[in-house]
Amino acid sequence: MSNREEAEALPDVGLRMTESDFRKLSAFIHQVCGISLSDQKRTMLESRLQKRLRALGMASFREYCAHVTSDAEDESERIRMIDLVTTNKTDFFREANHLHYLVDKALPPAVAAGWGTSRPLSVWSAGCSTGEEPYTLAMVLSEFAESVPGFRFDILGTDISTRVLEAARRAVYDSDKIAPVPMPIRRKYLLRSRDRESGAVRIVPELRSLVRFRRLNFLESDFGLREPMDVVFCRNVIIYFDKPTQETILCRIARHVTPGGYVFMGHSETLFGLRVPLVQVAPTVYRKQA
Ligand SMILES: C[S@@+](CC[C@H](N)C(=O)[O-])C[C@H]1O[C@@H](n2cnc3c(N)ncnc32)[C@H](O)[C@@H]1O
Repeated sequence: MSNREEAEALPDVGLRMTESDFRKLSAFIHQVCGISLSDQKRTMLESRLQKRLRALGMASFREYCAHVTSDAEDESERIRMIDLVTTNKTDFFREANHLHYLVDKALPPAVAAGWGTSRPLSVWSAGCSTGEEPYTLAMVLSEFAESVPGFRFDILGTDISTRVLEAARRAVYDSDKIAPVPMPIRRKYLLRSRDRESGAVRIVPELRSLVRFRRLNFLESDFGLREPMDVVFCRNVIIYFDKPTQETILCRIARHVTPGGYVFMGHSETLFGLRVPLVQVAPTVYRKQA
């Protein structure tokens, strides 16, 4: 009997992640996507990956570790693993005071200086998950554009997870997801899905066309971004990284920000103690020095 056949004969109790498996896998995850998993996350990692092991017909995490970390292995298993280990919680109109700050405080002087009028305002949702954040920005900026003649913008949404990017491009959301979207905005920018029973909605094509999505791993030294970004939303992303990784990533992000451009962080995130070229201008709102 081969190892695989022997293991397949075992019940699921075989699919337990030992401490050594956890150490190897968490070190590998840290290396490929920067996410730090504390010991308390072992059960979470085990349960998220168990289904994948079963799908692959693997009988132990040891076998999976060898498979996913193997140099010979193409990137596809790594991509699948990342899809499973990332936490993608997001919402429309999340942390709405950032949106008020953007429209009421940041944009008026920026527009007076020609941002968004002499050229389109470039906005980046860095760690965009399933698209709620960039589409919220598209809604808010479209409303802003109605009162500012000639104002144009484009939005880039990036994420490491291919699974969330597919959902973001599809732009179809369950009815319960749209609860935070104000009613007049819903009427303007959301369409009822063809399957009326499902209650699902889709972002209108005009808004979808303002948002591009692409895969980007913050751990890669070259982000492949050509244009500088005027406004960056990088919210609820760095909480998953340790301090040195946070510093590295934020310095890389800052390289792509227009001098004087804005970086919005999540409400529970702080850049305090990090050596990054960003200056705080409001709680969790930063600017790159001009
Ligand atoms: C909790 S979501 C935040 C979504 C949105 N920004 C918000 O605040 O609602 C964090 C996202 O960061 C992405 N992420 C994690 N590690 C990453 C990395 N190394 N490079 C790019 N994105 C990453 C995850 O896939 C996930 O979708």
